[in-house]
Amino acid sequence: MIVEGGRRLKGEAEIGGSKNAVLPIMVAALLAKGASVVRGTPRLRDVTTMIKVLETLGVKASQDGSDLHIDPKGLKKYEAPYDLVKTMRASIYVMGPLLARLGKARVSMPGGCAIGQRPVDLHLKGFEALGAKIALKHGYIEATAKKLKGARIIFDKPSVGATANVMMAACLAQGTTTLHNPAQEPEIVDLAGFLKRMGARIHGEGSDCIEIIGVSSLQGCDYEVIPDRIEAATLLVAAAITGGSVSLRHGRLADLGIVAEKLREHGLDLVETGRGLKASMGKRRRPVHITTMPHPGFPTDMQAQWMALMALTPGTTVVTETIWENRFMHVSELDRMGADIKIQGNSAVVSGVKKLFGAPVMASDLRASAALVVAALAAKGSTEITRIYHLDRGYERLEDKLSALGARIRRVPE
Ligand code: UD1
Repeated sequence: MIVEGGRRLKGEAEIGGSKNAVLPIMVAALLAKGASVVRGTPRLRDVTTMIKVLETLGVKASQDGSDLHIDPKGLKKYEAPYDLVKTMRASIYVMGPLLARLGKARVSMPGGCAIGQRPVDLHLKGFEALGAKIALKHGYIEATAKKLKGARIIFDKPSVGATANVMMAACLAQGTTTLHNPAQEPEIVDLAGFLKRMGARIHGEGSDCIEIIGVSSLQGCDYEVIPDRIEAATLLVAAAITGGSVSLRHGRLADLGIVAEKLREHGLDLVETGRGLKASMGKRRRPVHITTMPHPGFPTDMQAQWMALMALTPGTTVVTETIWENRFMHVSELDRMGADIKIQGNSAVVSGVKKLFGAPVMASDLRASAALVVAALAAKGSTEITRIYHLDRGYERLEDKLSALGARIRRVPE
């Protein structure tokens, strides 16, 4: 990706459907006997990978524009192989629905990744509480259960993946399940919305206790996924760093939560209109500390982009990462562009500089790619970002959206 920096973003862009909502929803469709349509689905590599995962299970899945059709009638296989799980860890989501529908699941154990160790112990403890037997063999997790039974489950910490996985399994369990200390992210609320549309009985999603009353079967449904709050927030940060003003169709202020607060504190004028979000950057930029936390705290998936914004903000900002270890891979690349960032344990101390300069840099993961793009938009001169394919996992045509807002950005063969 080649970005010529220094242009203020101005104009309108559309926010696509949420990646982190649609991935579990695609898998939740397996819980029904009939077909489902999921609307507003973004065109992303992770969605394509999840379609492949579903196909290996015998399920028909296809994307037609933003409509996703999933027909689980042919569901008979119960294995998610290493090749797919290693490219997308969210493949682990198939465990819950497979256990509930077929009574067994075999999923390659997800390994580490660019943002550190990512355990799945909370998923497995949840399944065990519902009565499943778990074994780890030859790099695979094997789970079996004759009939899942509702249980009271207290999670050690809020996990998006574990909450989604166990919630899906509990929908078809016998009796009532209560999840204490679950994840409260808007994507969990959206998944519950989809499950309820299929006939599931769920209460309390989005709070610190979710109740799921098991039902004997679910039906396919038609559902529209929520807009992607991380895509919206990334574009708002891009507007802020370039001193621009943008409108984002379909953006929702409530889902942005604390990110909206922090952006306003920084100096962005941000309002919700009937069509979406409207934002324009004021004259003064203020440094705003953040600490990543489970929702409603500051999302770790916005930490890298926030750091790029603070790199050009006068004063000193402390950015603390508490969710993932090793999620500071963008720091050395931002420093190569002239930023002044020092890592101290799980915090980064960002001393704002007057200018960033275009440089050759390398993307290491999805959100780090976005941070480098954001920094490049405000840098003096041209930035060349390699390994930009990471971006396509979670942003649909980001360069087209930014171009429409007036950025000079293009993709060239590496
Ligand atoms: C999801 C998001 C990801 C985001 C993350 C945190 C998807 C597809 N991905 O990932 O973009 O960065 O939430 O908001 O929605 N943990 C355990 N044991 C477990 C599971 C998690 O200790 O069994 C820990 C993790 O190491 C991490 C924390 O819990 O420290 C949160 O992880 P989790 O919410 O599960 O993240 P994911 O669902 O993998």
